[in-house]
Amino acid sequence: VTEAHNIVVIGMGAGNPDYLTVQAIEALNSVDVFFIPDKGTEKAALRQLRETICKRFITRSDYRMVEFDVPPRRLSDADYAPSVDAWRHEVEDRYAGLLAQELKSRQRGGILVWGDPCLYDGSLRVLEGLVARGIAIDYEVIPGITAVQALAARHRIALNGVGEPVLLTTGRRLAAGEADAPNIVVMLDGSDAHTAAADDLEIFWGAYVGMPQEVLVAGRLGDVKDEITRRRGEGRDANGWIMDTYLLRRPGKAEE
Ligand SMILES: C[S@@+](CC[C@H](N)C(=O)[O-])C[C@H]1O[C@@H](n2cnc3c(N)ncnc32)[C@H](O)[C@@H]1O
Repeated sequence: VTEAHNIVVIGMGAGNPDYLTVQAIEALNSVDVFFIPDKGTEKAALRQLRETICKRFITRSDYRMVEFDVPPRRLSDADYAPSVDAWRHEVEDRYAGLLAQELKSRQRGGILVWGDPCLYDGSLRVLEGLVARGIAIDYEVIPGITAVQALAARHRIALNGVGEPVLLTTGRRLAAGEADAPNIVVMLDGSDAHTAAADDLEIFWGAYVGMPQEVLVAGRLGDVKDEITRRRGEGRDANGWIMDTYLLRRPGKAEE
């Protein structure tokens, strides 16, 4: 009987090493082999945070890092869901091979995830897919501070008005008019989708939240949307990548 692979998926927090939880630090120190997917645009940020975190919080010296390429994802509006499925299969093949190859008996594998694994991250779906294929994996998930929590804290706001719902969505869906809620949190906006929303909404925007190059802008969307577009461009030019998140809400509500 082959033993199950032992894996821990660790939320690192969305960019600031101080976001790491005590539980995450303990989990980091339990890992023998870290599996590090190379994810295109976020690569530079991810590498920096990972190195800082490992240096600062891991007390053992006998762990290894296994870096690997993730097959690129080809997106188009028409085949968004199928292309994600096909891509996930390729990624699963990659992980299956790596786990078999790199983890010795009784060793623990670790997957470091930006923010929290439960939000716009594919790691848990990959593991579910592997288990569904019959690969024995025993895995645990350690939560981290998401970009959403970091954004709200930096703007010192609650996401919801009293008793109201909050919608978490993508820039693509906002631009397509598929976001209708009193409070909308937008992530993964690659195309200035905020400019498509109604001018009288309030926006709380943040790029590189929690990081040294953090930029925050808040106000009536009609008044600040051009500034946000400009700052996004400047950030991308200066850093080579950008991660930003924003809350859009109807104006004039009392906060909880
Ligand atoms: C692939 S998702 C990963 C989200 C992550 N799992 C989390 O819990 O925050 C990447 C998106 O998260 C948002 N994001 C992550 N870190 C951020 C940060 N430090 N500041 C602003 N937005 C961030 C951006 O919307 C970015 O496009």
